[in-house]
Amino acid sequence: MDCLQEWPEPVVHVQALSDSALTTIPDLYIKPPSERPSSDKGVATPHIPVIDLGGLAEGAAECRATICAVADACRSWGFFQVVNHGVSPDLVRKVREVWRGFFRLPMAEKQAYANNPRTYEGYGSRVGVEKGAILDWGDYFYLHLLPESIKNQDKWPALPSSCRQTVQEYGDEMVKLCGTLMKVLSISLGLDVDQLQAAFGGDDVGACLRVNYYPRCPQPELTLGLSPHSDPGGLTALLADDCVKGLQVRRGDDWVTVQPVAGAFIVNIGDQIQILSNAKYKSVEHRVTVNAAQERLSLAFFYNPRSDWPIAPVGQLVTPQRPPLYQATTFDEYRMHVRKNGPTGKTQVESLKAI
Ligand code: OGA
Ligand code: NI
Repeated sequence: MDCLQEWPEPVVHVQALSDSALTTIPDLYIKPPSERPSSDKGVATPHIPVIDLGGLAEGAAECRATICAVADACRSWGFFQVVNHGVSPDLVRKVREVWRGFFRLPMAEKQAYANNPRTYEGYGSRVGVEKGAILDWGDYFYLHLLPESIKNQDKWPALPSSCRQTVQEYGDEMVKLCGTLMKVLSISLGLDVDQLQAAFGGDDVGACLRVNYYPRCPQPELTLGLSPHSDPGGLTALLADDCVKGLQVRRGDDWVTVQPVAGAFIVNIGDQIQILSNAKYKSVEHRVTVNAAQERLSLAFFYNPRSDWPIAPVGQLVTPQRPPLYQATTFDEYRMHVRKNGPTGKTQVESLKAI
């Protein structure tokens, strides 16, 4: 895929723009009026559900109640926060610290990891290769944790010196957490406990980390840190900034600002689970706003199906009343769309609809 070899224009890191103390942002980052965060009400309530995963280890009744809470959250929001998730708070603190440290390094140090649109792996800013596209006010670092065959720690930051080890430990914990969530989701869909995982291709799942860094922005009302999109993969567990809000979730015509609970992960359904569940659960659009006073850091952990495995609605969720809504596709084929076009709301999963 030739168009994915290189970026169509030289990549400018938003952090460099932000550090240059501009008072106005370049036109390239200015969204059309209807897409600006100031053009909506920015509804503050209601909130996405907060679910205590501790219930899974208690009696049968608590376990059932937890699974029901997940099912409700998936149907009504596509998003929820989890607490008591088993990931060590100390590890969470350390992983935030190493990534803050990475983004504080001199630009030349970070540029050594500059990414390209073929794999996206490394330090980048834009998503999509469409020339002249309006860009988002954010930089990121993207890396693969699974499958082992494509994991390459040489592509992860060597500095701060504890980065590679901490990211690996964090990744291991997140894979465990997502494995648990997959079981919960599977039961909540009326499937056997391991069926959703099997539909993901068994043990050969993919896992990647996208560390988002949203620098301060002199005109936050004109731009977005990340444009509306649904996550293309299976399941996302986001570690949001511990101080600065910015994530908004679509609810009808409104954008609801998520109020992160301390120590929680924000979990959301990706397009692959929408397809596998025959739209019983839907991926929900979200976006990120930026602000003038504070930078923001978030870690999005993506748990994805095996990349060459056909993903289609699971047999039990297809009935004469509810025929399969999507054609089979592999995640490899699917994510080419995002890699080429950048964040485009929910257009990709909609385009898969069986005729
Ligand atoms: C993402 C994402 C949200 C955030 O990386 O896909 O939606 O708060 N991030 O940074
Ligand atoms: Ni996302």
